[in-house]
Amino acid sequence: MKGKNGEKSSKKKLIASSAGLFFLHYVILLAIIFLFMIYYDPDHWLEYIEKNLNILLYMILCILLLFIAVYGYYFSEHRDRMQSPKMITAMFCVLDLCIALSCFMGQAIHIYARPAALMALLCLLLFSKREAIFWNFIFGILLFVIDTYTNYTPDGIGGTGIMANSAVYSALIVSVTAGLLAIYFGSRIKTRISIVVLSIPITIPVLVVILLLEMGQLDFLSKDLGIFLGFGVIGGLSSTIFFIAFLPIFEGIFNILTVFRVRELTTSDAKLMIKLKEEAPGTFSHCMVVAQIAEMCASALGENVELARAAALYHDMGKLSKPECFTENQSGYNVHDELSPELSVDIIRSHTKEGHDLILAHRLPELFADVAQQHHGTLPIKYFYYKAKRMTDGEVRIEDYSYPGPKPKSKIAAIIMIVDAAEAASRALVNRTVDNVEKVVREIIEERVDLNQFSDCDITMKDLDTIRKTIVASLTGVYHHRVNYPAIKFGREGKIETKDRI
Ligand SMILES: [Fe+2]
Ligand SMILES: [Fe+2]
Repeated sequence: MKGKNGEKSSKKKLIASSAGLFFLHYVILLAIIFLFMIYYDPDHWLEYIEKNLNILLYMILCILLLFIAVYGYYFSEHRDRMQSPKMITAMFCVLDLCIALSCFMGQAIHIYARPAALMALLCLLLFSKREAIFWNFIFGILLFVIDTYTNYTPDGIGGTGIMANSAVYSALIVSVTAGLLAIYFGSRIKTRISIVVLSIPITIPVLVVILLLEMGQLDFLSKDLGIFLGFGVIGGLSSTIFFIAFLPIFEGIFNILTVFRVRELTTSDAKLMIKLKEEAPGTFSHCMVVAQIAEMCASALGENVELARAAALYHDMGKLSKPECFTENQSGYNVHDELSPELSVDIIRSHTKEGHDLILAHRLPELFADVAQQHHGTLPIKYFYYKAKRMTDGEVRIEDYSYPGPKPKSKIAAIIMIVDAAEAASRALVNRTVDNVEKVVREIIEERVDLNQFSDCDITMKDLDTIRKTIVASLTGVYHHRVNYPAIKFGREGKIETKDRI
């Protein structure tokens, strides 16, 4: 009962705080629109407002209705967004920027030269495909309302004004179709710079609409038609150029993880990856294998594959402060032979917190930092616990020999926790048969379930079973048994020597 009351009050708080933020951004958008009314006609804007108060009031209410619809959509479909003021602010900053650029380009150049697909492209990369489609329609409607009810003149500097009204009405269809095509093709693009190629499918609907609208009014081969088509090309190009310019700014300010950023951070050219490769090569190769298997597990569970791979690559960055203290970087000499178990365990368990801090200090995504901190949960560090017990007659507290946590809070963190341990354990197996790997992975999962390590994330027993099968399949593939062919050496005068491999 207490839980239900708590849930109700947190839901009320969420409704109140997110509604307040929505209203604040509604007021900011209105301020931008009124600033553009001054820009459109600096000499007569006040006169326009005085004469058209009822029309402007109608516009203000139309936009309020749109904001209520947006709020309802997010509350029912994307409640996770509502819990993050940072993401709500990011969303409306994208909207404000796109409206401002469209109003400016529309007046300074021409209505057809607006970056019609910019909103759709930014939302696609910064948020999600579904939200990009939703915002694409909202953006088109908003522009239409602004064009219709402010003192905006659609012909701008280069236009003739012949198709003024039709041009305003067509802005809606141009914006929606260009945006939808940008979403369709944009979700297939692999690198930032190749987004420029998107200018072609974005420009096509703009040109078709301009042709259909203007052909009846102007000569088919007239100069004006050519100018309008030129404006359409500017519209397509400006969408992608503004996108390339503003995407890194949004990524940086709001620390949003886009597919481009994930790909850039997971190449071996990424700054921390280079450092890991040079200073802790054993940890680097361990992370590469963990990343490969975590990616497969994420795919099997329907989780974000690229995020799982990236977070796995960064999970052991904390070992960079003392790489020689971790087995995978040792060759023969073990520093822990000379240290007390208390000191050893302090070094080992601090790598989770140090990894978290190092990742954040490099302004890398919070998800990577969270996984680095959570990948050992609150598990005991068994080897040093038993070493301490052997060396003392007094009581040894298991908590003093355990990782500080927190436990995994997401499915991706849970996957990486299991894959991390399974990779290390199977590497140590002398006989890496399918049965042995299966046994080890099963024990790892059972131990973590028994120690209640998955109580803070929504992973199910079915998910754990899928993870186990995927790890066994990939580990036996990664470390498959090679046929022991004899080594063959060609000597002088065609002499061939053979010997068994070591
Ligand atoms: Fe670790
Ligand atoms: Fe690890």
